[in-house]
Amino acid sequence: MVEAIEVELQSVSKFYGEDKVVDAVSLHVNQGEIFVLIGPSGCGKTTTLKMINQLIPHTSGRILVRGKDVTELDPVELRRSIGYVIQYIGLLPHLTIRDNITFVLQLKKYNKKMQRERAMELIETVGLPVSYLDRHPRELSGGQQQRVGVARALAADPEILLMDEPFGAVDPITREQLQLELLRLQETIKKTIIFVTHDMQEAFKVGDRIGIMRGGRLVTIGTAMDIVRERDEFIRNFIGQGAIFSALDTIPAARAIIDDLPIVQEGAALDDDVLSLTGDWENIFIVDGQRRCLGYISLSEIKGQRKIDREKVTACPPPCRPGDSLKKVIEEMLWGNRAWLPVVSEEGYFLGIVSFQSCASLLVG
Ligand SMILES: Nc1ncnc2c1ncn2[C@@H]1O[C@H](COP(=O)(O)OP(=O)(O)OP(=O)(O)O)[C@@H](O)[C@H]1O
Ligand SMILES: [Mg+2]
Repeated sequence: MVEAIEVELQSVSKFYGEDKVVDAVSLHVNQGEIFVLIGPSGCGKTTTLKMINQLIPHTSGRILVRGKDVTELDPVELRRSIGYVIQYIGLLPHLTIRDNITFVLQLKKYNKKMQRERAMELIETVGLPVSYLDRHPRELSGGQQQRVGVARALAADPEILLMDEPFGAVDPITREQLQLELLRLQETIKKTIIFVTHDMQEAFKVGDRIGIMRGGRLVTIGTAMDIVRERDEFIRNFIGQGAIFSALDTIPAARAIIDDLPIVQEGAALDDDVLSLTGDWENIFIVDGQRRCLGYISLSEIKGQRKIDREKVTACPPPCRPGDSLKKVIEEMLWGNRAWLPVVSEEGYFLGIVSFQSCASLLVG
């Protein structure tokens, strides 16, 4: 399937006088994707974001939103068609939560009934009680206000959301909650989201792809795994020591499966094809007719025999699923003192194993 490109920057630059604060940035964001922009303070993240909805006009290059050049669109319409969430949410203090959420709808002259319904729907979408609609922003915690900020940005049902350090002002625990809520929400709303942060862990957690900026330039774009495998010194220093652990949280076990293993069906004789697969690996797996793993036996136990003695088969460690994060899998290997775990599909089929070794080669390349 070819993914639709929702936002595209073609060699976009921004000058303030002689200062080039954004330097020939090119990127595209696919429909339904969360694209994270990250980089040190002052590198041009906010400027890049604001050029997309033309809060800041660009100096050169082209910005396309759904294939249309933004300079040819009505700026007011453009901004209203793109949701925008910022760090200090900027809720209007004298308005109720309801009126804050429906602010854009009032501008768009939705009728009162539709506004009320939409406010109820949205407050629930972001996980707050409906009774909060009558409160004022000061009566909510920082994290709750941030959720209202997201609800407000979603009010007019925009296809695109720009989020500028949206969770930057809340404590680490609330922040993690908000990140998970965003991911859960995204599963249903499937918006195209451009998310600015300076926190690498946050980038790995929420980003489908990550773009790293430095001094106005985009130095690399890739998935969490591409980024941890980068060898460039600036990028390595920027992502820091703990990055690999954050990335593990986002990489599914499926990526590290070893599936060319010697497997034999219960009762069948061992043939040379199976034995030739052993290589460095010293175990042979036994599966039943439904490809459920019954256990394994080491080559030393087989001692050249062609028939497997059921008595000598060892049960496998508790399995993991292909969708489990590598973090979870490695944690389980550590807790269970295992060098590998079997990977089993939802239907119970044996898919292969994940080992410390396979995780390491995936990450280090
Ligand atoms: N109106 C302006 N006039 C001149 N320079 C500006 C203006 N606005 C921003 N800049 C400069 O442009 C650069 C990029 O700013 P920008 O706000 O995009 O950075 P940022 O990556 O979002 O940083 P932070 O992480 O601190 O939010 C900075 O060096 C900033 O000083
Ligand atoms: Mg900024």
